[in-house]
Amino acid sequence: MSSIGFGIDVGGSGVKGARVNLESSEFASERIKILTPQPATPEAVAEVAARIVEQAGWTGPVGITVPGIVRDQVVESAANIDPSWVGVNAQELFSRHLGGRTVTVLNDADAAGLAEVTYGIPEAATGPVIFLTLGTGIGSAILIDGRLYPNSELGHLEVDGKEAEHRASSAVKERKDLSYKQWAKQVDKVLRTYEALFSPSLFIVGGGISRKSEKWIPLLSCRTKVLPARLLNTAGIVGAAMAVERVSTP
Ligand code: BGC
Repeated sequence: MSSIGFGIDVGGSGVKGARVNLESSEFASERIKILTPQPATPEAVAEVAARIVEQAGWTGPVGITVPGIVRDQVVESAANIDPSWVGVNAQELFSRHLGGRTVTVLNDADAAGLAEVTYGIPEAATGPVIFLTLGTGIGSAILIDGRLYPNSELGHLEVDGKEAEHRASSAVKERKDLSYKQWAKQVDKVLRTYEALFSPSLFIVGGGISRKSEKWIPLLSCRTKVLPARLLNTAGIVGAAMAVERVSTP
């Protein structure tokens, strides 16, 4: 099996890509970042992805994340992205812009969760684990013994009359100017709901705000252990590269 893959993470502000050493999860080339085009339509984003791959001089298969539901390679939701993504076969789209090569597309949080349980947190390799990324929205990945149950979308679960991501994303903290204490209370409510429904053995929390985890993880009261993500901003790219490597090589 080839041990170098290529992943692209499509985010709200930047599209980022790099070669990934799939034995260590380290980047095997410098990360290339291009600002997300506005509006971030499928064609515009795919063009940017093609520029990244070209700049990197990569000719192999590519894994790509999208911040929405991706079922059978078709994007089915667009909570925080351009609505024109809904119904698009993202594999076809990106492959067309990438000279017809093999492409696999998956949800951004699924990719990051896969990378965290595989490389970031050894104790997450077994048991049911819920990975959450707290950013503009709340992304989620459910992993069982390291295997992904895709498109869980727990950020849209209603918690006490409000979607979880409208209650406890880091964007909400910023927008409402909440203190860590006030915000942690909301995160706690969300985690306790997930805990009651899924009884995971571990929560892993990612997103930029997990860098300051010492300010809010200790304030949580849920019974399940909560650990900050370790790969942080490389996780999406690494998970994308993992996804394509798995399907494209024997
Ligand atoms: C989307 C998810 C995505 C998450 C993080 C949510 O609003 O529905 O698909 O994973 O944001 O980007």
